[in-house]
Amino acid sequence: MASIAFTVNARSVEVTADGDTPLLDVLRNHLGLTGTRFGCGLEQCGSCMVLIDGLPEKSCRKALSTVAGKSIMTIEGLGTPSDPHPLQQAFIDLQAGQCGYCLPGILISARALLDRNKAPTRAEIASALDDNICRCGSHHRILRAVAQAAARMREEAPP
Ligand code: FES
Ligand code: FES
Repeated sequence: MASIAFTVNARSVEVTADGDTPLLDVLRNHLGLTGTRFGCGLEQCGSCMVLIDGLPEKSCRKALSTVAGKSIMTIEGLGTPSDPHPLQQAFIDLQAGQCGYCLPGILISARALLDRNKAPTRAEIASALDDNICRCGSHHRILRAVAQAAARMREEAPP
């Protein structure tokens, strides 16, 4: 057992657990952040995606010990029902999901893309979401929603 300190959604936390515990388990079971989803558990589907120091990473096999001192963002840190992030609003507006299971991971990957590229092409959006599987096949609406969010963010914060 070890005590590992890091931040989640700008909040400092310290978790005492085996250092090999998957970060996903820590987020969901120790910290109650159940928005990040367990899909395959094999780093294949992207439903467990979080930002670690600003970069999208799968959390299902990421050892707790490797995130000491790091800054993590989960879907709970993106927006709230009363104050949704433009990505979340665009997904709602376009009804981009069906079951929604994949969406937390997709929104996190999309957020990482828009952090580094304010005007991504459709191909760049598709490439950024390459590691995220949507079993419902909502890919076309998902791509449109990310593009719509990017456009709205450019309108709200012109360069
Ligand atoms: S649950 Fe982590 S990639 Fe599928
Ligand atoms: S909306 Fe169902 S898996 Fe993507």
